[in-house]
Amino acid sequence: MAISFEGQVALVTGAGAGLGRAYAIDLARRGAKVVVNDLGGDPAGTGENRAPAQKVVDEIKAAGGEAVANFDSVASYDGGFNMVKQAMDTYGRLDVVICNAGILRDMAFHNMAEEDWDKIFAVHIKGSFTVLRAAWPVFRQQSYGRVVLTTSSSGIWGQFGQANYGAAKTAMLGFMNVLKQEGAKYNVMVNTVAPVAGTRLTAQVMSQEMVDRLKPEYVVPAVVYMVSKENTDTGVVIEAGAGNFSRAAIVKGPGVQPGMADLKDAEWIGENWAAITSLEGAEPMWRTGQTLADHLKEVAAAKQG
Ligand SMILES: NC(=O)c1ccc[n+]([C@@H]2O[C@H](COP(=O)([O-])OP(=O)(O)OC[C@H]3O[C@@H](n4cnc5c(N)ncnc54)[C@H](O)[C@@H]3O)[C@@H](O)[C@H]2O)c1
Repeated sequence: MAISFEGQVALVTGAGAGLGRAYAIDLARRGAKVVVNDLGGDPAGTGENRAPAQKVVDEIKAAGGEAVANFDSVASYDGGFNMVKQAMDTYGRLDVVICNAGILRDMAFHNMAEEDWDKIFAVHIKGSFTVLRAAWPVFRQQSYGRVVLTTSSSGIWGQFGQANYGAAKTAMLGFMNVLKQEGAKYNVMVNTVAPVAGTRLTAQVMSQEMVDRLKPEYVVPAVVYMVSKENTDTGVVIEAGAGNFSRAAIVKGPGVQPGMADLKDAEWIGENWAAITSLEGAEPMWRTGQTLADHLKEVAAAKQG
C-alpha cells in the first residue's frame, strides 16, 4: 500500500537545498504539510538568505502541495522553538521532524580552531537538540512522533580532516539511543540516516560527475519510510545513497569474562587481546542495563548466594 502523510505535518531543517529539499518535496507529494526550514547560509555556516527555503516552498505549492517557510537557525534555542511553534500555529500539529541542517568546516586536526569545533557542534548536535526539545512535548501529548537524525560515515567509520564534523555527527547516535527509550512509550520512533549524496557540501570533496550522479533522491526513500507511520522500528541507523541501503550499528563482542576471583594485569590483557577484541557473535545492545548485566553477573550471584 502506498505510504501516505495525508493529515500529517512535517518539519525538515536545512530543507532549502540538497537532501533536505528532496525529503520535503517527497513528503509534500505524499500529502504532508511541510515546514521548510533553512537559514540559507554558506556551506561553512556564514551568512543567511531567505531565498532557498522560499524557493522550495514555491516549488511544493506549484506542484499542488502545502508548505510554509521558516528562516530560523537551528543553532539557537529560540530558533528551534519558533519552527515548532510555526508548525503548530499554521497546521495545528507536528508528526515528523527530520534534523538535517548541516555545515562543514574541514581541516586537518592540527589546524582546527575553537570556532571550527564550536560552530559544527552548534549546528549539528545542538541544532538537533533545539528542534527536538521543542517538538518533544507535542509528540508526548499526541502520543505520536517520527524523527530522523542525520549522522555521517565520517564519524561512524572515520574521515581525515573531519574531527569536528565526525565527532558531532556521531554524537547523534548517543542522542538517538537515549531518545529511542524515552520516546518508545509515546509512540515516538527515533532513527538515524547516514546519507551519501551529491550536494553543495560534498561538491567540496567530490568530482562534478559524482555530484551529478549521486542524486539526493537515492537517499529519500529510506528517510521517508523511517518517518512514516508504517515504521515502528526505533534506534536504527541506515546508510543510504548511491543505490545502497544498509544498517550500521554499534555492536558488542562476546568478550572474555575471567570473573573477579583474582585481579588481572595488563600482561593478561595483552595475552587475551585477540579474544577480547573479537567481533565474532557481536550484537547491538538496546540499553545500558543489558551490557552492564554481563559485568554485574557475578555481583548479582554473590548477593543472592
Ligand atoms: N551529502 C552527503 O553525502 C552527506 C553525507 C553525510 C551527512 N550529510 C548530512 O546531511 C545533511 C544535509 O546535507 P546536504 O549534503 O544536503 O548539504 P546542503 O548544504 O545542500 O544542505 C544543508 C542545508 O542546511 C542549511 N543550514 C545550515 N546551517 C543551518 C542552520 N543553522 N539552520 C538552518 N539551516 C541551516 C543550509 O543552508 C543548507 O541549505 C547535513 O546534516 C550533512 O551533514 C550529508
